[in-house]
Amino acid sequence: MLQSKLPNVGTTIFTRMSQLAAQTGALNLSQGFPDFASPPALLAAAVKHLGAGHNQYAPMTGLPRLREQVAAKIAGLYGRSVCAEAEVTILPGATEGIFCAVQALIRPGDEAIVLDPCYDSYEPSVELAGGRCVHVPLTLPSFSIDWQLLAEAITPRTRLIFINSPHNPSGALLSRADLDQLAALIRDRDIYLISDEVYEHLVFDGAQHASVLAHDELYARAFVVSSFGKTYHVTGWKTGYAVAPPLLSVELRKIHQYVNFCGVTPLQHALADFMAEHPEHITELPAFYQAKRDLFCDQLAGSRFSFTRAPGTYFQLADYSAIRPDLDDVAMAEWLTREHGVAAIPVSVFYQKAPADMRLVRFCFAKREETLLAAGERLCAI
Ligand SMILES: Cc1ncc(COP(=O)(O)O)c(C=O)c1O
Repeated sequence: MLQSKLPNVGTTIFTRMSQLAAQTGALNLSQGFPDFASPPALLAAAVKHLGAGHNQYAPMTGLPRLREQVAAKIAGLYGRSVCAEAEVTILPGATEGIFCAVQALIRPGDEAIVLDPCYDSYEPSVELAGGRCVHVPLTLPSFSIDWQLLAEAITPRTRLIFINSPHNPSGALLSRADLDQLAALIRDRDIYLISDEVYEHLVFDGAQHASVLAHDELYARAFVVSSFGKTYHVTGWKTGYAVAPPLLSVELRKIHQYVNFCGVTPLQHALADFMAEHPEHITELPAFYQAKRDLFCDQLAGSRFSFTRAPGTYFQLADYSAIRPDLDDVAMAEWLTREHGVAAIPVSVFYQKAPADMRLVRFCFAKREETLLAAGERLCAI
């Protein structure tokens, strides 16, 4: 009988909630993906490149013209001049970047620190490499790092720390001061970073994203991953990238070469065209999503949910203590979907061990105005 290498992993809550939403006809504010169209010029570029015969393997590290667009963006936004050839790798999704970086770093017996709540791919990636995750909870309600707890979690076996800003599921942002504090904590230690920045362009209320790419000391030991899927409203294209110093990129690429070898060619061409021709897309994104957040939150203000507006990402947390304190969050998400026609994600699934009294669900507001208005109406009626 085959012994599972991931005995604790089943069908993810994202798949289950999306299925339940489809079965019940609920508005799906659970899984994080837009229900609106991708930019027409991007779709037209994909069609153009399919028709032009760009349908064979791309270079293993990604199309040079797309890597150059990424490098130019990084120079413009974060002031770092990365080498497109040696430091930027295009991958089939940020998830693969995370997986390959973990395989490059973790050996049997190593420890990786994750800050709970965290994205669900981190821990299985570490376990498949023979490592173990050490879970450090973020401090509620701000989801900020407890530096004392983090320092206490570091051991001689710690090889990796994951950070994620803007943060899924809370929307919290790390500041430049947080990055400085992290740098001081791991200085003189053989610890690397995976900085998950897939929501790098989704920051609101005038805040700036503090990227590890703008931090010399941290970047020297980091893999920074991002996702074209999130930035260009094409999550189904599963195209992302990892940026890391040359020696780290060499090791990531050795693994990527045998996991997937390369990303999808015509989509890489389309993204390169669109980035070159529509630089305004990323500068307009914060206002675009802030308007959606505010539309949703203005609705939610008339409900019995309590919340603080998300500073980043396209997720909004809501506390339902005043509505059904008797339900845990998994039961609440199901009840909301079945009884009130709005699907959400329970926050406890992002934890190894969530606080027992936590009563939070996550809504995705990457939705059309009419979806958000209809969801708001239903949530206000509860
Ligand atoms: C925090 C975080 N990291 C990584 C990913 C994966 O990105 P991709 O779809 O490019 O693999 C997601 C997608 O939901 C995410 O929320």
